[in-house]
Amino acid sequence: MITVKNLTKKFGGFTAVNDASLTIEEGSITGLVGPNGAGKTTLFNVIAGVYKPSKGTVYLDGKDITGLEPHQLFHKGLLRTFQIAHEFSTMTVRENLMMVPGEQSGEKLLDVWLKPSKIRAEEVLLRNKADEVIEFLEISHVADELAGNLSGGQKKLLELGRTMMVDAKIVFLDEVGAGVNRTLLNTIGDAIIRLNKERGYTFCVIEHDMEFIGRLCDPVIVMAEGGVLAKGTIDEIKSNEQVIEAYLGTGLKNKAAS
Ligand SMILES: Nc1ncnc2c1ncn2[C@@H]1O[C@H](COP(=O)(O)OP(=O)(O)OP(=O)(O)O)[C@@H](O)[C@H]1O
Ligand SMILES: [Mg+2]
Repeated sequence: MITVKNLTKKFGGFTAVNDASLTIEEGSITGLVGPNGAGKTTLFNVIAGVYKPSKGTVYLDGKDITGLEPHQLFHKGLLRTFQIAHEFSTMTVRENLMMVPGEQSGEKLLDVWLKPSKIRAEEVLLRNKADEVIEFLEISHVADELAGNLSGGQKKLLELGRTMMVDAKIVFLDEVGAGVNRTLLNTIGDAIIRLNKERGYTFCVIEHDMEFIGRLCDPVIVMAEGGVLAKGTIDEIKSNEQVIEAYLGTGLKNKAAS
């Protein structure tokens, strides 16, 4: 579904992603792991159109999407969530969800004047859709809570919920599990698996929690120092010498070199 070819992203003189090539198969929940600073988030940002690559190409279903803007990719069903949740804190959970499809339409304001009944009908649809998502994620008890009052984990669930308000094809999740307690992490994991199985979403998941990755992801891609180091099942990854070395710390290697 996604093919990345020889992707490089430089920030000034620093190379954050270095000639990375990988594929994400349709229907998979692909894990993306690697030590801090490996370039995972940067790779996500380039794929999702936040950054333009310095070099390389990104394909979605065989079509070159390199350098498209995030909203253009959004229309194509490519969505991402952020390492840091970015909810609208003074709106309720339901309102946050109802905000999402609005980003899809550039004609909304005109419609308010010209077709008020159409707007009302759309709002009812949106509200129903939001309630469906709330039920799916089992967060009915906080539906009318201000998003700013949610726990870290609940905010992550809301992020996931936002991807369900549109017809997503592939969703990139950046550390959905960070700072989330075990119970909620399991809820998030279950939601991802159900979205994958029941709605056919393809996922690419960045996560440091290997237990979470192991439960959800096949295959797992490992990045280190900007490049792709390995790809395989969780067991293959865990027993891969190069991967173990990368995780043991570049510190060791640097010491040996100096
Ligand atoms: N906007 C930026 N400007 C300059 N350097 C950046 C920028 N974004 C990221 N970097 C650098 O690029 C490298 C890769 O960062 P990135 O955030 O992609 O890593 P990561 O694998 O997501 O790490 P983590 O697991 O800690 O989230 C890091 O050394 C980081 O400091
Ligand atoms: Mg990151």
